[in-house]
Amino acid sequence: MDSDRIISHLINIYFEIKNATKLKLLIILSTNNVELPQPLSSLIPSIYTSLPSYDEIAEIIDELLLTYQNLNSLDNSILINASAGLTKEEICLGLKLAFNSSQMINIHSIAENLLEYKINRFRSFNLNFVGLPNAPDFGGLDLLNSYIENVKYDFLPQARDANIPFPKGCLLVGPPGTGKTLAANAIAKILTFPLVSIDTAAVVAGGASYLKQLLERVEACAPVVLYFDEFDKLFAASNESGEDIGSRQILGTLLTWLQDKTSMVFVVATLNRLDALPPELTRVGRFDEIFYVGFPQAIERKQILMLHLARFDARYEDGDVLTEKEWRIILNQTVNCTGAELARMVEKAARTLFHQNREMEIGLQELLEQREIMVPLYVRDTDRILAIENRAKYICQPASSTDTSEFAPVITSFWGER
Ligand SMILES: Nc1ncnc2c1ncn2[C@@H]1O[C@H](COP(=O)(O)OP(=O)(O)OP(=O)(O)O)[C@@H](O)[C@H]1O
Ligand SMILES: [Mg+2]
Repeated sequence: MDSDRIISHLINIYFEIKNATKLKLLIILSTNNVELPQPLSSLIPSIYTSLPSYDEIAEIIDELLLTYQNLNSLDNSILINASAGLTKEEICLGLKLAFNSSQMINIHSIAENLLEYKINRFRSFNLNFVGLPNAPDFGGLDLLNSYIENVKYDFLPQARDANIPFPKGCLLVGPPGTGKTLAANAIAKILTFPLVSIDTAAVVAGGASYLKQLLERVEACAPVVLYFDEFDKLFAASNESGEDIGSRQILGTLLTWLQDKTSMVFVVATLNRLDALPPELTRVGRFDEIFYVGFPQAIERKQILMLHLARFDARYEDGDVLTEKEWRIILNQTVNCTGAELARMVEKAARTLFHQNREMEIGLQELLEQREIMVPLYVRDTDRILAIENRAKYICQPASSTDTSEFAPVITSFWGER
């Protein structure tokens, strides 16, 4: 039966019941937050059952724990936190499974299993939940780093006393491989919040009501960092055809949510090109800051190389191995290399030493060999990269301050003097 006929059937049933002498009720159950089509929604009121709040979860868990005699705990908060974002039925089922699969009946192992259940449940609707992100450190990006340290302050209760509103989030724009995804993970680590990533392709396929449902789940997990990778993909359809209803609705839902948000959800969205984004999203009141994460400057390249060198060659953990002169050589050779390319150079140098069964000591020579055989993205795709950079410069703030280190390029005048 097609949907029009179902609608007209339901309308007929509605009027039959309405005119009946006995009290009859028409109840339509829906699971997927499906919005009723307009002819029905004007007749039939919707009652929406939201996810349980912290106090409601506490009650549900207290009740359930009574049935498990062996467990006496005065503090159920870790179970409550593990359940945040689940429905009542999911909590009941998850707790039961957690009990059955726990070898030791103690609150920590049960909470761990319950969290595992939640992670799997979230994954089934394309949300990736990471309890405690363990992102590696990033090199450079000092301005972004100090912004995040301030965000941490703005989430403290003292900030509420001072009437400072909750931070909303930031957009990270920049060419591929400059460390945006890495920074998003590091932000969750710095804030000590869990990280939930939304699969943008799934949102495009599921539409606005699906996004609403996901946002509700995410908000229930607050405090949390919500991460959108390839953020522009959400709006790709509305850009190409100009009039894509699905994309407009997704945009509308997201804008309203961002504007009204009063929960401890910090949104980090990353993308390559700012012009792929509807201008409404970059207007004041949506994201707090828009950062341009560009090619690392000399001192940043050194920091990034050091971080990755230390992964393989322990000598770099304690400090510098290369001389200043050697650094100058490798830093000059890597102008316009992204963080990802620097990481790859180091990895390949380590791999080569390993294959040759040599001591894991990466020096200038090994790095230069790898640099020689690499063609950086900037060289392969200069026009596109410059377009990204030029556009972003007007709208974004830089994620790194100007390099003033001894490795910064010498500023020469037109005549070549200093
Ligand atoms: N600033 C940095 N410090 C340390 N490592 C870095 C940095 N930038 C990039 N890297 C290395 O490059 C890898 C890839 O970076 P990442 O995935 O964060 O890039 P991206 O900007 O998200 O790229 P894309 O736009 O393609 O998604 C990282 O896992 C890391 O190893
Ligand atoms: Mg990325």
